[in-house]
Amino acid sequence: MKLWGGRFTKPTNQLMDEYASSIHFDKKLAKHDIMGSLAHVRMLKKCNILSDNDADKIVEGLQFVAAKIENGEAVLSEEHEDIHMNIEKLLIDEIGSVGGKLHTGRSRNDQVALDMRLYLREVVHELVQLVTNVQKSLYKQAEANLDTLLPGYTHLQRAQPVLFAHHMLAYLFMFQRDAERLADSLKRINKMPLGAGALAGTSFPIDRQYVADELQFDSICENSLDAVSDRDFVVDFLSHASMIAMHLSRLCEEMVQWSSAEFNFIELDDAFCTGSSMMPQKKNPDVAELVRGKTGRVYGNLTGMLTTLKGLPLAYNKDMQEDKEGMFDSAETLRGALALFAPMIETMHVKETEMYEAVRQDYSNATDLADYLTSKGMTFRESHEAVGNIVLHCLNQNKYLLDLSLDEFRSFSDLIETDIFKALSPESVVNARKVPGGTAKESVKNQLEKAAALLKTN
Ligand code: ARG
Repeated sequence: MKLWGGRFTKPTNQLMDEYASSIHFDKKLAKHDIMGSLAHVRMLKKCNILSDNDADKIVEGLQFVAAKIENGEAVLSEEHEDIHMNIEKLLIDEIGSVGGKLHTGRSRNDQVALDMRLYLREVVHELVQLVTNVQKSLYKQAEANLDTLLPGYTHLQRAQPVLFAHHMLAYLFMFQRDAERLADSLKRINKMPLGAGALAGTSFPIDRQYVADELQFDSICENSLDAVSDRDFVVDFLSHASMIAMHLSRLCEEMVQWSSAEFNFIELDDAFCTGSSMMPQKKNPDVAELVRGKTGRVYGNLTGMLTTLKGLPLAYNKDMQEDKEGMFDSAETLRGALALFAPMIETMHVKETEMYEAVRQDYSNATDLADYLTSKGMTFRESHEAVGNIVLHCLNQNKYLLDLSLDEFRSFSDLIETDIFKALSPESVVNARKVPGGTAKESVKNQLEKAAALLKTN
Protein backbone atom coordinates (compact mmCIF):
# COMPACT_ATOMS: atom_id res chain seq x y z
CA MET A 1 0.00 0.00 0.00
CA LYS A 2 1.42 3.37 -1.03
CA LEU A 3 1.51 6.19 1.50
CA TRP A 4 -0.53 8.20 -1.02
CA GLY A 5 -2.73 5.28 -2.14
CA GLY A 6 -6.11 6.64 -0.96
CA ARG A 7 -7.44 7.95 -4.26
CA PHE A 8 -6.11 5.02 -6.34
CA THR A 9 -8.08 1.96 -7.32
CA LYS A 10 -5.22 -0.27 -8.42
CA PRO A 11 -1.51 -0.68 -7.85
CA THR A 12 1.07 1.10 -9.97
CA ASN A 13 2.65 -0.73 -12.86
CA GLN A 14 5.82 -2.40 -11.66
CA LEU A 15 7.86 -0.94 -14.52
CA MET A 16 6.58 2.46 -13.49
CA ASP A 17 7.75 1.84 -9.91
CA GLU A 18 11.19 0.89 -11.17
CA TYR A 19 11.41 3.77 -13.60
CA ALA A 20 10.12 6.53 -11.36
CA SER A 21 11.75 5.47 -8.14
CA SER A 22 14.77 7.42 -6.97
CA ILE A 23 15.64 5.42 -3.89
CA HIS A 24 18.73 3.84 -5.46
CA PHE A 25 20.39 7.25 -5.58
CA ASP A 26 18.56 9.53 -3.15
CA LYS A 27 19.33 7.16 -0.27
CA LYS A 28 22.47 9.30 -0.05
CA LEU A 29 20.22 11.94 1.45
CA ALA A 30 19.01 9.73 4.33
CA LYS A 31 21.06 11.54 6.95
CA HIS A 32 19.97 14.97 5.74
CA ASP A 33 16.34 13.89 5.45
CA ILE A 34 16.28 12.73 9.05
CA MET A 35 18.10 15.83 10.22
CA GLY A 36 15.39 17.92 8.53
CA SER A 37 12.57 15.80 9.93
CA LEU A 38 13.94 16.08 13.47
CA ALA A 39 13.96 19.88 13.21
CA HIS A 40 10.47 19.83 11.70
CA VAL A 41 8.98 17.66 14.43
CA ARG A 42 10.63 19.70 17.20
CA MET A 43 9.07 22.77 15.67
CA LEU A 44 5.63 21.07 15.49
CA LYS A 45 5.96 20.32 19.20
CA LYS A 46 7.03 23.83 20.11
CA CYS A 47 4.12 25.29 18.14
CA ASN A 48 1.70 22.89 19.85
CA ILE A 49 0.73 21.37 16.52
CA LEU A 50 1.84 17.99 17.91
CA SER A 51 1.54 16.93 21.54
CA ASP A 52 4.79 16.56 23.48
CA ASN A 53 4.15 12.86 23.75
CA ASP A 54 3.63 12.31 19.99
CA ALA A 55 6.57 14.48 19.06
CA ASP A 56 8.89 12.72 21.48
CA LYS A 57 7.85 9.35 20.10
CA ILE A 58 8.57 10.54 16.56
CA VAL A 59 11.98 11.96 17.54
CA GLU A 60 12.91 8.70 19.17
CA GLY A 61 11.60 6.71 16.21
CA LEU A 62 13.55 8.84 13.74
CA GLN A 63 16.74 8.32 15.71
CA PHE A 64 16.12 4.60 15.65
CA VAL A 65 15.50 4.66 11.88
CA ALA A 66 18.69 6.70 11.39
CA ALA A 67 20.74 4.10 13.25
CA LYS A 68 19.08 1.30 11.31
CA ILE A 69 19.91 2.92 7.97
CA GLU A 70 23.41 3.76 9.12
CA ASN A 71 24.30 0.18 9.99
CA GLY A 72 22.68 -1.20 6.87
CA GLU A 73 19.78 -2.98 8.56
CA ALA A 74 16.99 -0.94 7.01
CA VAL A 75 15.32 -2.22 3.86
CA LEU A 76 14.86 0.63 1.42
CA SER A 77 12.48 -0.33 -1.33
CA GLU A 78 11.53 0.89 -4.77
CA GLU A 79 7.92 0.42 -3.84
CA HIS A 80 8.21 3.45 -1.56
CA GLU A 81 9.70 5.49 -4.37
CA ASP A 82 12.18 7.75 -2.64
CA ILE A 83 14.15 8.27 0.54
CA HIS A 84 11.48 10.52 2.05
CA MET A 85 8.68 7.96 1.85
CA ASN A 86 10.95 5.08 2.74
CA ILE A 87 11.93 6.84 5.95
CA GLU A 88 8.32 7.67 6.77
CA LYS A 89 7.38 4.04 6.16
CA LEU A 90 10.22 2.80 8.38
CA LEU A 91 9.12 5.24 11.07
CA ILE A 92 5.51 4.05 10.97
CA ASP A 93 6.67 0.43 11.05
CA GLU A 94 8.69 1.29 14.11
CA ILE A 95 6.36 3.47 16.22
CA GLY A 96 2.97 2.82 14.66
CA SER A 97 0.44 5.23 13.19
CA VAL A 98 1.67 8.20 15.27
CA GLY A 99 4.57 8.23 12.78
CA GLY A 100 2.03 9.43 10.24
CA LYS A 101 1.95 12.79 12.06
CA LEU A 102 5.49 13.65 11.01
CA HIS A 103 4.44 14.93 7.62
CA THR A 104 2.01 17.47 9.12
CA GLY A 105 2.41 20.85 7.40
CA ARG A 106 5.05 19.52 5.03
CA SER A 107 5.27 18.20 1.47
CA ARG A 108 7.95 16.14 -0.19
CA ASN A 109 8.46 19.16 -2.41
CA ASP A 110 9.78 21.42 0.32
CA GLN A 111 11.34 18.40 2.03
CA VAL A 112 13.48 17.43 -0.94
CA ALA A 113 14.56 21.04 -1.47
CA LEU A 114 15.67 21.11 2.15
CA ASP A 115 17.61 17.85 1.84
CA MET A 116 19.42 19.06 -1.28
CA ARG A 117 20.47 22.25 0.48
CA LEU A 118 21.67 20.39 3.57
CA TYR A 119 23.66 18.00 1.39
CA LEU A 120 25.26 20.70 -0.76
CA ARG A 121 26.12 22.86 2.21
CA GLU A 122 28.15 19.97 3.59
CA VAL A 123 29.78 19.19 0.24
CA VAL A 124 30.75 22.81 -0.35
CA HIS A 125 32.50 23.05 3.02
CA GLU A 126 34.35 19.84 2.28
CA LEU A 127 35.38 20.91 -1.23
CA VAL A 128 36.70 24.26 0.00
CA GLN A 129 38.97 22.29 2.33
CA LEU A 130 40.08 19.95 -0.46
CA VAL A 131 40.78 22.86 -2.82
CA THR A 132 42.78 24.52 -0.05
CA ASN A 133 44.84 21.35 0.38
CA VAL A 134 45.70 21.42 -3.33
CA GLN A 135 46.69 25.07 -2.93
CA LYS A 136 48.91 24.12 -0.01
CA SER A 137 50.83 21.58 -2.09
CA LEU A 138 51.23 24.14 -4.86
CA TYR A 139 52.52 26.53 -2.23
CA LYS A 140 55.09 24.01 -1.03
CA GLN A 141 56.32 23.36 -4.55
CA ALA A 142 56.54 27.10 -5.15
CA GLU A 143 58.50 27.67 -1.96
CA ALA A 144 60.92 24.86 -2.85
CA ASN A 145 61.45 26.14 -6.39
CA LEU A 146 62.24 29.81 -6.05
CA ASP A 147 65.42 29.32 -8.08
CA THR A 148 64.12 26.77 -10.57
CA LEU A 149 63.80 28.14 -14.09
CA LEU A 150 61.22 26.82 -16.51
CA PRO A 151 60.66 27.72 -20.14
CA GLY A 152 57.45 29.74 -20.23
CA TYR A 153 55.28 29.09 -23.29
CA THR A 154 52.77 30.88 -25.42
CA HIS A 155 51.19 28.93 -28.29
CA LEU A 156 53.19 26.03 -26.78
CA GLN A 157 56.29 27.71 -28.24
CA ARG A 158 59.04 28.70 -25.86
CA ALA A 159 58.47 32.36 -25.04
CA GLN A 160 60.23 33.67 -21.94
CA PRO A 161 61.71 31.84 -18.98
CA VAL A 162 59.79 31.96 -15.70
CA LEU A 163 60.36 30.66 -12.21
CA PHE A 164 58.79 27.28 -11.57
CA ALA A 165 57.45 28.86 -8.37
CA HIS A 166 55.69 31.48 -10.51
CA HIS A 167 54.00 28.75 -12.53
CA MET A 168 52.83 26.91 -9.39
CA LEU A 169 51.47 30.14 -7.95
CA ALA A 170 49.46 30.81 -11.12
CA TYR A 171 47.48 27.66 -10.27
CA LEU A 172 47.30 28.56 -6.60
CA PHE A 173 45.58 31.86 -7.41
CA MET A 174 43.33 30.11 -9.91
CA PHE A 175 42.17 27.68 -7.21
CA GLN A 176 41.72 30.61 -4.85
CA ARG A 177 38.96 31.90 -7.12
CA ASP A 178 37.39 28.44 -6.95
CA ALA A 179 37.48 28.38 -3.16
CA GLU A 180 35.96 31.88 -3.08
CA ARG A 181 33.23 30.98 -5.56
CA LEU A 182 32.30 27.91 -3.52
CA ALA A 183 32.24 29.89 -0.29
CA ASP A 184 30.12 32.57 -1.94
CA SER A 185 27.60 29.98 -3.15
CA LEU A 186 26.77 29.21 0.49
CA LYS A 187 24.87 32.50 0.62
CA ARG A 188 22.36 31.08 -1.84
CA ILE A 189 22.43 27.48 -0.61
CA ASN A 190 21.95 28.30 3.03
CA LYS A 191 18.28 29.31 2.91
CA MET A 192 15.56 27.22 4.47
CA PRO A 193 12.67 26.11 2.18
CA LEU A 194 10.52 24.12 4.64
CA GLY A 195 7.10 25.66 5.16
CA ALA A 196 6.60 26.11 1.44
CA GLY A 197 4.54 22.92 1.50
CA ALA A 198 3.78 21.56 -1.92
CA LEU A 199 3.86 25.05 -3.43
CA ALA A 200 1.59 27.50 -1.59
CA GLY A 201 2.71 27.29 2.03
CA THR A 202 0.78 25.60 4.82
CA SER A 203 -2.29 26.40 6.86
CA PHE A 204 -0.68 25.11 10.08
CA PRO A 205 0.69 27.82 12.38
CA ILE A 206 4.30 26.67 11.96
CA ASP A 207 7.48 28.57 12.84
CA ARG A 208 9.80 28.54 9.85
CA GLN A 209 12.48 30.60 11.56
CA TYR A 210 12.68 28.06 14.38
CA VAL A 211 13.45 25.31 11.85
CA ALA A 212 16.00 27.55 10.13
CA ASP A 213 17.72 28.20 13.45
CA GLU A 214 17.69 24.51 14.42
CA LEU A 215 19.38 23.62 11.15
CA GLN A 216 21.71 26.64 11.12
CA PHE A 217 20.34 28.27 8.01
CA ASP A 218 21.06 31.97 7.48
CA SER A 219 17.46 32.76 6.55
CA ILE A 220 14.25 31.29 5.14
CA CYS A 221 13.30 31.20 1.45
CA GLU A 222 11.09 34.22 0.90
CA ASN A 223 8.53 32.75 -1.51
CA SER A 224 6.93 29.32 -1.31
CA LEU A 225 6.67 28.87 -5.10
CA ASP A 226 10.31 29.80 -5.54
CA ALA A 227 11.32 27.63 -2.57
CA VAL A 228 10.07 24.42 -4.20
CA SER A 229 10.96 25.35 -7.79
CA ASP A 230 14.44 26.70 -7.23
CA ARG A 231 17.37 24.53 -8.20
CA ASP A 232 19.61 27.48 -9.10
CA PHE A 233 21.83 26.55 -6.19
CA VAL A 234 22.42 23.16 -7.84
CA VAL A 235 23.27 24.81 -11.17
CA ASP A 236 25.54 27.18 -9.29
CA PHE A 237 27.33 24.27 -7.70
CA LEU A 238 27.63 22.34 -10.97
CA SER A 239 29.02 25.41 -12.64
CA HIS A 240 31.63 25.98 -9.92
CA ALA A 241 32.44 22.27 -10.08
CA SER A 242 32.96 22.59 -13.85
CA MET A 243 35.34 25.48 -13.35
CA ILE A 244 37.34 23.51 -10.80
CA ALA A 245 37.44 20.50 -13.12
CA MET A 246 38.61 22.75 -15.95
CA HIS A 247 41.40 24.15 -13.78
CA LEU A 248 42.45 20.68 -12.68
CA SER A 249 42.36 19.52 -16.26
CA ARG A 250 44.71 22.28 -17.41
CA LEU A 251 47.18 21.34 -14.72
CA CYS A 252 46.74 17.66 -15.67
CA GLU A 253 47.66 18.46 -19.24
CA GLU A 254 50.86 20.18 -18.11
CA MET A 255 51.73 17.23 -15.91
CA VAL A 256 51.19 14.82 -18.76
CA GLN A 257 53.36 16.94 -21.08
CA TRP A 258 56.04 17.65 -18.51
CA SER A 259 56.45 14.00 -17.60
CA SER A 260 56.93 12.96 -21.24
CA ALA A 261 60.47 12.26 -22.52
CA GLU A 262 60.00 15.19 -24.90
CA PHE A 263 59.68 17.69 -22.04
CA ASN A 264 61.31 15.73 -19.22
CA PHE A 265 60.61 18.47 -16.64
CA ILE A 266 59.06 16.43 -13.84
CA GLU A 267 58.64 12.91 -12.63
CA LEU A 268 55.41 11.98 -10.93
CA ASP A 269 55.66 9.71 -7.94
CA ASP A 270 55.12 6.00 -8.67
CA ALA A 271 52.15 6.06 -6.30
CA PHE A 272 50.18 8.11 -8.86
CA CYS A 273 51.16 6.30 -12.04
CA THR A 274 50.50 2.91 -13.60
CA GLY A 275 52.37 0.55 -15.88
CA SER A 276 51.45 -1.11 -19.14
CA SER A 277 50.22 -4.68 -19.45
CA MET A 278 52.43 -5.12 -22.50
CA MET A 279 55.28 -2.59 -22.51
CA PRO A 280 57.50 -3.16 -19.49
CA GLN A 281 59.20 0.24 -19.65
CA LYS A 282 56.01 2.30 -19.36
CA LYS A 283 55.08 4.62 -16.52
CA ASN A 284 51.84 6.36 -17.36
CA PRO A 285 50.49 9.50 -15.64
CA ASP A 286 47.06 7.87 -15.15
CA VAL A 287 45.71 10.12 -12.41
CA ALA A 288 46.41 13.24 -14.44
CA GLU A 289 44.84 11.71 -17.54
CA LEU A 290 41.79 10.41 -15.71
CA VAL A 291 41.09 13.69 -13.95
CA ARG A 292 41.43 15.44 -17.33
CA GLY A 293 39.01 12.89 -18.78
CA LYS A 294 36.46 13.16 -16.00
CA THR A 295 36.13 16.87 -16.71
CA GLY A 296 33.76 15.77 -19.46
CA ARG A 297 31.23 14.26 -17.08
CA VAL A 298 31.41 17.26 -14.76
CA TYR A 299 30.57 19.57 -17.69
CA GLY A 300 27.88 17.07 -18.75
CA ASN A 301 26.23 17.27 -15.34
CA LEU A 302 26.00 21.05 -15.66
CA THR A 303 24.56 20.90 -19.16
CA GLY A 304 22.14 18.16 -18.09
CA MET A 305 20.80 20.16 -15.16
CA LEU A 306 20.40 23.38 -17.13
CA THR A 307 18.55 21.46 -19.82
CA THR A 308 16.27 19.71 -17.33
CA LEU A 309 15.24 23.02 -15.78
CA LYS A 310 14.75 24.79 -19.10
CA GLY A 311 11.07 25.37 -19.77
CA LEU A 312 9.80 23.95 -16.44
CA PRO A 313 6.75 25.83 -15.22
CA LEU A 314 6.41 26.64 -11.51
CA ALA A 315 6.29 24.92 -9.12
CA TYR A 316 7.58 21.38 -8.47
CA ASN A 317 7.68 19.03 -11.45
CA LYS A 318 8.81 15.43 -11.35
CA ASP A 319 11.51 16.34 -13.86
CA MET A 320 13.30 17.88 -10.92
CA GLN A 321 14.06 14.48 -9.48
CA GLU A 322 16.79 14.49 -12.16
CA ASP A 323 18.65 17.09 -10.08
CA LYS A 324 20.39 14.56 -7.87
CA GLU A 325 22.56 12.12 -9.77
CA GLY A 326 24.57 14.82 -11.54
CA MET A 327 25.04 16.69 -8.30
CA PHE A 328 26.25 13.57 -6.48
CA ASP A 329 28.45 12.63 -9.40
CA SER A 330 30.15 16.03 -9.69
CA ALA A 331 30.66 16.16 -5.92
CA GLU A 332 32.19 12.70 -5.83
CA THR A 333 34.28 13.18 -8.95
CA LEU A 334 35.80 16.35 -7.54
CA ARG A 335 36.23 14.92 -4.09
CA GLY A 336 38.29 12.08 -5.57
CA ALA A 337 40.29 14.27 -7.93
CA LEU A 338 41.17 16.92 -5.36
CA ALA A 339 42.07 14.34 -2.73
CA LEU A 340 44.54 12.74 -5.15
CA PHE A 341 45.90 15.98 -6.50
CA ALA A 342 47.24 17.38 -3.26
CA PRO A 343 49.67 14.49 -2.60
CA MET A 344 50.45 14.07 -6.31
CA ILE A 345 51.66 17.67 -6.57
CA GLU A 346 53.45 17.52 -3.28
CA THR A 347 55.42 14.41 -4.22
CA MET A 348 56.15 15.50 -7.79
CA HIS A 349 59.89 15.47 -8.50
CA VAL A 350 60.95 18.68 -10.26
CA LYS A 351 63.87 18.17 -12.66
CA GLU A 352 65.62 21.47 -12.13
CA THR A 353 68.72 20.71 -14.24
CA GLU A 354 66.74 19.48 -17.22
CA MET A 355 64.48 22.51 -17.09
CA TYR A 356 67.49 24.80 -16.93
CA GLU A 357 69.01 23.11 -19.99
CA ALA A 358 65.75 23.65 -21.83
CA VAL A 359 65.79 27.32 -20.90
CA ARG A 360 69.35 27.71 -22.21
CA GLN A 361 68.57 25.98 -25.45
CA ASP A 362 66.06 28.39 -26.85
CA TYR A 363 65.62 32.00 -27.89
CA SER A 364 63.54 32.99 -24.90
CA ASN A 365 65.98 35.82 -24.10
CA ALA A 366 65.25 37.55 -27.44
CA THR A 367 62.80 39.99 -25.84
CA ASP A 368 65.56 41.00 -23.45
CA LEU A 369 67.92 41.73 -26.30
CA ALA A 370 65.24 43.93 -27.84
CA ASP A 371 64.64 45.62 -24.46
CA TYR A 372 68.42 46.15 -24.19
CA LEU A 373 68.58 47.92 -27.57
CA THR A 374 65.49 49.93 -26.68
CA SER A 375 67.07 51.09 -23.44
CA LYS A 376 70.06 52.24 -25.51
CA GLY A 377 67.90 54.49 -27.63
CA MET A 378 66.33 52.45 -30.45
CA THR A 379 62.55 52.45 -30.74
CA PHE A 380 61.09 49.13 -29.69
CA ARG A 381 59.90 48.47 -33.26
CA GLU A 382 63.43 48.97 -34.63
CA SER A 383 64.98 46.76 -31.99
CA HIS A 384 62.31 44.09 -32.56
CA GLU A 385 63.29 44.05 -36.24
CA ALA A 386 67.04 43.98 -35.47
CA VAL A 387 66.66 41.10 -32.98
CA GLY A 388 64.51 39.23 -35.47
CA ASN A 389 67.44 39.44 -37.88
CA ILE A 390 69.89 38.30 -35.20
CA VAL A 391 67.69 35.27 -34.37
CA LEU A 392 67.50 34.40 -38.06
CA HIS A 393 71.28 34.62 -38.26
CA CYS A 394 71.58 32.32 -35.22
CA LEU A 395 69.15 29.80 -36.72
CA ASN A 396 71.23 29.69 -39.90
CA GLN A 397 74.41 29.27 -37.89
CA ASN A 398 72.90 26.73 -35.51
CA LYS A 399 73.60 28.95 -32.53
CA TYR A 400 71.74 30.48 -29.59
CA LEU A 401 72.03 34.19 -28.76
CA LEU A 402 74.56 33.59 -26.00
CA ASP A 403 76.81 31.68 -28.46
CA LEU A 404 77.40 34.87 -30.51
CA SER A 405 80.63 36.81 -30.12
CA LEU A 406 80.57 40.52 -29.35
CA ASP A 407 81.70 41.22 -32.94
CA GLU A 408 78.83 39.19 -34.35
CA PHE A 409 76.42 41.13 -32.12
CA ARG A 410 77.94 44.45 -33.14
CA SER A 411 77.65 43.62 -36.84
CA PHE A 412 73.89 44.09 -36.21
CA SER A 413 74.11 47.11 -33.93
CA ASP A 414 77.00 49.00 -32.41
CA LEU A 415 74.79 49.84 -29.46
CA ILE A 416 75.62 46.36 -28.14
CA GLU A 417 78.42 46.16 -25.59
CA THR A 418 79.96 43.45 -23.37
CA ASP A 419 77.26 43.82 -20.73
CA ILE A 420 74.94 42.05 -23.18
CA PHE A 421 76.16 38.61 -22.07
CA LYS A 422 75.02 39.19 -18.51
CA ALA A 423 71.76 40.77 -19.63
CA LEU A 424 70.87 37.70 -21.69
CA SER A 425 71.62 35.09 -19.03
CA PRO A 426 68.49 33.17 -17.98
CA GLU A 427 68.77 34.45 -14.39
CA SER A 428 68.97 38.10 -15.49
CA VAL A 429 66.11 37.60 -17.89
CA VAL A 430 63.90 36.24 -15.10
CA ASN A 431 65.00 38.69 -12.45
CA ALA A 432 64.54 41.69 -14.72
CA ARG A 433 60.77 41.19 -14.43
CA LYS A 434 60.41 42.80 -11.05
CA VAL A 435 57.03 44.33 -11.81
CA PRO A 436 54.40 43.33 -9.21
CA GLY A 437 53.05 39.98 -10.37
CA GLY A 438 56.15 39.40 -12.53
CA THR A 439 58.45 36.40 -12.48
CA ALA A 440 61.52 37.95 -10.78
CA LYS A 441 62.39 36.16 -7.58
CA GLU A 442 61.57 39.15 -5.38
CA SER A 443 58.22 39.56 -7.08
CA VAL A 444 57.44 35.86 -6.72
CA LYS A 445 58.35 36.06 -3.03
CA ASN A 446 55.74 38.80 -2.71
CA GLN A 447 53.19 36.55 -4.36
CA LEU A 448 54.10 33.79 -1.92
CA GLU A 449 53.35 36.13 0.97
CA LYS A 450 49.99 37.03 -0.52
CA ALA A 451 49.23 33.36 -1.08
CA ALA A 452 50.11 32.47 2.50
CA ALA A 453 47.71 35.13 3.77
CA LEU A 454 44.91 33.77 1.56
CA LEU A 455 45.46 30.20 2.69
CA LYS A 456 45.08 31.27 6.32
CA THR A 457 41.59 32.60 5.71
CA ASN A 458 40.21 29.81 3.47
N1 ARG B 1 11.67 12.04 -5.19
C1 ARG B 1 11.22 13.36 -5.45
C2 ARG B 1 12.39 14.19 -5.95
O1 ARG B 1 13.45 13.80 -5.75
C3 ARG B 1 10.69 13.99 -4.20
C4 ARG B 1 9.59 14.98 -4.41
C5 ARG B 1 8.44 14.31 -5.00
N2 ARG B 1 7.25 15.06 -4.94
C6 ARG B 1 6.16 14.63 -5.54
N3 ARG B 1 5.10 15.29 -5.39
N4 ARG B 1 6.18 13.58 -6.32
O2 ARG B 1 12.21 15.20 -6.55
